[in-house]
Amino acid sequence: YIGFGFQTNSQTAVVDEELVGLHEKYTLKFSHVVARNTPKGLAAAYFAELVKEKTNGWVEVQIFPNGVLYSAQEEFEALKRGDVNMIAPAFSEVTLHDEKWIAFDLPFLFDNEQMVEQAFNGRVGELLLKSIETKGYKGLAFWDNGFKQLTNNNRPVVNPEDIKGLSFRVMPSEALFKTYRTLGARARTFPFNEVYNVLQDGIVDGQENTLSNIYSKGFYKQQKYMTVSNHNYLGYVILVDPIFWDTIPEIYQESIQEAIDEVTVWLREHAKELNEDMFLRISSTGITEIHELSEEEKKQWLKELKPIYDEYEPIIGDELMKEIRKVQG
Ligand code: LMR
Repeated sequence: YIGFGFQTNSQTAVVDEELVGLHEKYTLKFSHVVARNTPKGLAAAYFAELVKEKTNGWVEVQIFPNGVLYSAQEEFEALKRGDVNMIAPAFSEVTLHDEKWIAFDLPFLFDNEQMVEQAFNGRVGELLLKSIETKGYKGLAFWDNGFKQLTNNNRPVVNPEDIKGLSFRVMPSEALFKTYRTLGARARTFPFNEVYNVLQDGIVDGQENTLSNIYSKGFYKQQKYMTVSNHNYLGYVILVDPIFWDTIPEIYQESIQEAIDEVTVWLREHAKELNEDMFLRISSTGITEIHELSEEEKKQWLKELKPIYDEYEPIIGDELMKEIRKVQG
């Protein structure tokens, strides 16, 4: 816990179970793979508190952080089996179940958090949720983390050619593999829980992640160089199994959705702050040499990565790409 507090002073009336005649207790198991002191970890804990308050304790959310139960991909299966009831995978993980979600893996797609919010809250978000629904998942909200940064153990990375010949751990999205390959580097995928070890053992040279993940899991301790590249936004979608969801009485569904919406707003205000705080923590250790990409340098990367757009825009489809372009302005 790093000092970002939340209060459960919601104005909403709690469910009066005597009035609605509900005497069955519901338990929602919520699995996620990151540390507690990250945007997603804190949001999940806050969500559990809010649900308890709003349902007068009749719905309990049990949080399983740090991938203690499942890796990100195993979570999808566990959700379908009903072994967990709520997951919050990164968009790149969702791409294996719905390729439209590759959209957020397009390099340098959005310049800032405002654009990301506009996408989440507008047509882009709507289209993504509609699409994942056809794959059998119900999306309840988009949660923020932040932009991904690039770390490695070999050399400062400023220009695209600096990563030639290096290997990086990425999440299992095809577009991420292609991105590195396009730049003459290699990408390999490992579950989040294995990242520290594969860095430590030199199985890969580097990785890409948000500052909160790089700090909370200690990746920076195994990485001499970090480039603040902001090359992709790492966001999450809250997914439930629609069949399970329908077993929850409507009045509790409403309370759960209300709790999620409150947490979403809280996270929108705090995720950036959390990541900035983690940046200061990383830089103050002096372990990792940091380079921040200039706007000119970013243009160079984007130019080299044009083939990624050419390949994936048709897969993402015109309708979604058109809405993305509107957000980009
Ligand atoms: C990862 O690199 O696998 C993480 O970004 C996962 C997460 O949920 O943040």
